[in-house]
Amino acid sequence: MNRIITDHEIQITEYKLNAPERMRAVVLSDFHNNDPGPVLDIVRKGLKPDVILIPGDVVLGYYPEEGSLVVENSSNIVPFLKGCCDIAPVFMSLGNHECLLCDADIEILKSTGITLLDNEWVKYGSLTIGGLTSGHVISYRSFRNSLDNAETYPSRCRPRKVSQLLTDNKWLDDFEKETGYKILLSHHPEYWCVREPYLMSRKFDLVLSGHAHGGQWRIFGHGVLAPGQGFFPKYTSGMHKGPYGRMIISRGLANPYKIFPRWGNPCELIYLEMGPDNN
Ligand SMILES: [Fe+2]
Repeated sequence: MNRIITDHEIQITEYKLNAPERMRAVVLSDFHNNDPGPVLDIVRKGLKPDVILIPGDVVLGYYPEEGSLVVENSSNIVPFLKGCCDIAPVFMSLGNHECLLCDADIEILKSTGITLLDNEWVKYGSLTIGGLTSGHVISYRSFRNSLDNAETYPSRCRPRKVSQLLTDNKWLDDFEKETGYKILLSHHPEYWCVREPYLMSRKFDLVLSGHAHGGQWRIFGHGVLAPGQGFFPKYTSGMHKGPYGRMIISRGLANPYKIFPRWGNPCELIYLEMGPDNN
């Protein structure tokens, strides 16, 4: 970590990373249908990135009115994604809050101009960018496909009834063999080494995560609680080094849980300065 500044009550944390090509990237995690104005302002005017990376949870998950779509009901998502696309190419993976999205929602997301990486990767200059879909999405998707009315929401069934939360890992083996500076957008930081697919032991240069919201309350630099990790979780913020690459966790852009507001834990935007002479 190299520099921290604060703007619009959003902390901007800057990291310098050694990579083959000079490139500036912004990581926007856990937007959760928040007000897009402050974030877009910071990115557009102050940071001017070459690429924008979104490791999931643009949605704040809930069941929409019968006959309407989650994304249509979430009025900030499309302006946020379109605003990002006006600044730089955008690559996004799916987080747990995206589990409710049906095919029509996904098409709306794609229509904004983003590249949605749903267990797949693309080349972008010297970067190879992959998106690991949350196990919540995979499990809920197969559950939905088992129903008669698969194209829409099984609106009275809640995702928590879906017990298998396993990711689709097969494609990761091929992604590991790819050339280029490999960045994996992976919403859940616990996938690093707490649970499958144990990304720490895979040959990726950089894993970008969010999800933990910094542990919601931070005391002496440590988060208190995170989904998937429980109390006093290890992976809620900062940069973590593995034998092959690193994971950087964003503390996220929103404070969606009003009854448990963040404490000592400002929202966070990650700025990556990549280049051949950074260590
Ligand atoms: Fe999440």
